[in-house]
Amino acid sequence: MAVLWSCGALLLVCLFTASADAGAVVTQPSVVNNQSSAILTCNYTGQHAVQSHHWTKNGKVIETTKEESSKRITEYKLDKIDSHSGGIYTCVFTANGEEVKGDIEVKTMPHVGAYKHSEHANEGEQGSLVCVSHGYPLPTDWKWFLLGPDSLEQAIENGTEKYEIKSTPNRTTLYVKDLEIEKDVGDYMCLGLNELGVARDKIHLRVRSRLAALWPFLGIVVEVIILIAIIFIYEKRRKPDEVNDDDDSGAAPLKNDSATNHKDKNVRQRNSN
Ligand SMILES: *[C@@H]1O[C@H](CO)[C@@H](O)[C@H](O)[C@H]1NC(C)=O
Ligand SMILES: *[C@@H]1O[C@H](CO)[C@@H](O)[C@H](O)[C@H]1NC(C)=O
Ligand SMILES: *[C@@H]1O[C@H](CO)[C@@H](O)[C@H](O)[C@H]1NC(C)=O
Ligand SMILES: *[C@@H]1O[C@H](CO)[C@@H](O)[C@H](O)[C@H]1NC(C)=O
Repeated sequence: MAVLWSCGALLLVCLFTASADAGAVVTQPSVVNNQSSAILTCNYTGQHAVQSHHWTKNGKVIETTKEESSKRITEYKLDKIDSHSGGIYTCVFTANGEEVKGDIEVKTMPHVGAYKHSEHANEGEQGSLVCVSHGYPLPTDWKWFLLGPDSLEQAIENGTEKYEIKSTPNRTTLYVKDLEIEKDVGDYMCLGLNELGVARDKIHLRVRSRLAALWPFLGIVVEVIILIAIIFIYEKRRKPDEVNDDDDSGAAPLKNDSATNHKDKNVRQRNSN
């Protein structure tokens, strides 16, 4: 037991000296809450000469902030903060060949958007409505509502025969089961909450009747029937036409003439006999 304790104490000392070696960064402020603009400041308080610094947002380097400089203080200005600006900003100093970092959280109201503002599904089937969120912090809770007449909000409960809600911080899906045209067509609202406030969006759900799902098929059947009918009628009308054509042709009258000539000859011959 005693051995374990001394090891723990030794480890702490080691960690402390390591961080003291690299130096530390003081951030000002440490959190930006719901502000429309801010200046983020970092102050390197280590013992070493600084070689360079830059900033990152959510781990991605902000290229414009890269600077080879011995400055021990760096500022990053956020002129207009909206939900896209939210995130974890980190200043990174390189001193004595090591990176020393300080984090500043920029928190905004959530941003909530419908994945598609209009969805449709077939009667009797399942509809799924999706809302997503960006920004920082992501919603800690999601809610769904059905908007009745006069935009009256009716909260939708999870896990009923009709509805199921599946949510992660950046996405929520409402499943509407066994769709009925009279009950389920309408506007749905998703709402995301984080510690600073709420945001919402709307999705319109359309339900196609079973019959409507059949229309394309029926259309093809009707088309085929009409086509067959046209071919049939055309074929029937073509036969008498062909006979007429022969009558009008140049060869036919000649044949007829010669035939009548023969007949005439025969008649004459008979007469002479
Ligand atoms: C930076 O930190 C040092 C040591 O803590 C302090 O003396 C100095 O005033 C700070 N500078 C600014 C601009 O905050
Ligand atoms: C809704 O209920 C289902 C099970 O009935 C569960 O898996 C799911 O996590 C619940 N969703 C929310 C947002 O609580
Ligand atoms: C949402 O969060 C999950 C992890 O929870 C991540 O894998 C996914 O990429 C995120 N989606 C978006 C669009 O940010
Ligand atoms: C954040 O600001 C919005 C207005 O921009 C306000 O409605 C909301 O209540 C604020 N949230 C907090 C926690 O102060």
